[in-house]
Amino acid sequence: MQIDKQKLIAYYADAPEDISLDDIDLDSIPRHVSIIMDGNGRWATRRGLDRAKGHVAGVDSLREAVTTSVRLGFDVLSAYAFSTEKWKRPKLEVDLLMSLFAKTLIAELPLFHQENVRLQLFGDLEALPEETYRVFMRGLEETADHDGMTFALAVNYGSRAEIVRAAAQIAREVQAGMLSPDDITQDVFSSHLYTAGLPDPDLLIRTSGELRLSNYFLYQLAYTELYITDTLWPDFTRWEMLRAIRSFQGRSRRFGGV
Ligand code: IPE
Ligand code: IPE
Ligand code: MG
Repeated sequence: MQIDKQKLIAYYADAPEDISLDDIDLDSIPRHVSIIMDGNGRWATRRGLDRAKGHVAGVDSLREAVTTSVRLGFDVLSAYAFSTEKWKRPKLEVDLLMSLFAKTLIAELPLFHQENVRLQLFGDLEALPEETYRVFMRGLEETADHDGMTFALAVNYGSRAEIVRAAAQIAREVQAGMLSPDDITQDVFSSHLYTAGLPDPDLLIRTSGELRLSNYFLYQLAYTELYITDTLWPDFTRWEMLRAIRSFQGRSRRFGGV
């Protein structure tokens, strides 16, 4: 996406000691950055607070990450908000997250309009509580015509389920005579994933130091650069995003070549 240089410089004023906008190359910004947002619970517990407070604080980080991504000119920001495995958590926490998603999306729609951001959602949305589902559909509808950055949120998402669903869809097309098995290419397969039409992530950020993928984007991450930070998600700021990009730009992506 186009970068508004003036806005970007103003946004990144007051640099801390270790990082500034000058440390990154604006001509090689990743197109798609994806985040496994983790550590909300620990952030709260360390402060002697209820885990719920961590999720509320995490929303502020996500809002800032969306703005940061627009300023830096990403084409796509995606974030993992709720895995298919998260239903195992206490009902109270699940209910809080579901109502937080709905409440936040309504509150942030003006930001989406102002920044021309299009919303996308990955996951089995029909299994979500009715109110959350309704608000999500409204968010999709109201931002469908925006042609700036895409912000994609994975909710009730699991990568294995996504891959199995794609396989089943393809099987149905073959059965119906719409597709021949010989025509099932990687592109055809990708086009049956939730991420159809989007570039694969260039950079995956995971907060809170966990060294695992937790059933996220198993197909899409084949050649993605990984950045794991100990920073807990509610502490993730625009500066941490710069550190991630600096690290990304210091790597040599070979895609199997030399
Ligand atoms: C991430 O933090 C929660 C999200 C919904 C994005 P966690 O709730 O997993 O926090 P920890 O890992 O228990 O600290
Ligand atoms: C990662 O956080 C998944 C999401 C942010 C949705 P988790 O806290 O659920 O992951 P695990 O359980 O530590 O692997
Ligand atoms: Mg966690």
